[in-house]
Amino acid sequence: MECCRRIAISLLLVVLIGLSVAEAATQPLAALENHGGTMLRGNLDLSVVFYGRLGRIQKNTLRAFLKSLNQYGPAGYGSQVSSWWRMVSSYVPGGAEIKVRVVKQYVDPNYSLGKVMTRDFIKILVKNAVVGLPRALPVIVAARDVTVEGLCMGKCAQHGAFDGVPYVIIGNPETECPGACLWPFHRADYGPSGAILKPPSGDVAADAMVVSLASGLASVVTNPFQTGLFTLGDKAIVIEASTACPGMFGTGAAPGYTGKVAVDPRTGGAYNAVGVRGKKFLLPALWNPKTSSCWTVM
Ligand SMILES: *[C@@H]1O[C@H](CO)[C@@H](O)[C@H](O)[C@H]1NC(C)=O
Repeated sequence: MECCRRIAISLLLVVLIGLSVAEAATQPLAALENHGGTMLRGNLDLSVVFYGRLGRIQKNTLRAFLKSLNQYGPAGYGSQVSSWWRMVSSYVPGGAEIKVRVVKQYVDPNYSLGKVMTRDFIKILVKNAVVGLPRALPVIVAARDVTVEGLCMGKCAQHGAFDGVPYVIIGNPETECPGACLWPFHRADYGPSGAILKPPSGDVAADAMVVSLASGLASVVTNPFQTGLFTLGDKAIVIEASTACPGMFGTGAAPGYTGKVAVDPRTGGAYNAVGVRGKKFLLPALWNPKTSSCWTVM
């Protein structure tokens, strides 16, 4: 009996210490509020536009991430991408899992609108993406030689709405802002940089774009029209579900430290979630409205 009581007590201590470390290290930037406006729910049909010349690994990694949102990867490999997405779904009224489908995708290899994506050009891409698909959400992915207005200035993904159509746009930060949007796969511009991790796909930009797309989707679902889950931070910056907990990927995260993540023994790539066909991803922390703290999938 004595043996078991001792084990039980030490287990309890481990649990308590584990909790206090996780809580102390995952402080959000600010507390978010649900303003009660529309959130996206039910079926989420995506129209994906690859704008410019993107690498094959980049396109395939982003496609695999989207496919993994509602599909389980092989069991026994750790946290699932679908668990991360269920967390996002749980914030939406009703909390039913949001079913994501890519209903259209195309590549614009010749930069038909040039290499500087201003708001007016983004509006044209958004309009074209939903022709014949009025309920689809445009997801625009810009190549590394494209400058996107509003990106890199403290933001690695952007979302908004034109004529009632919400959209997400991300870029490839390799050239424009590696120190802002490529961490933890590249040195950070500000604050402690910490260890630089290997990307799970082998392509730094591909995995940084997964982080951006994951953040953009979490934000557009919970705050598509700037009337949902958000708060205003310093200088009226909008802080949302995916930006309230920057730079956190696992429990114990701190400035310059991602928190606990797994490492693929074969490639050395860092990851915290697996998806279809066992593909590995590093997914960002989310603000959890139920606990008012940051949540990571691992
Ligand atoms: C892009 O440009 C190339 C070379 O001019 C052309 O062959 C190709 O058809 C164009 N592709 C699209 C989708 O416009």
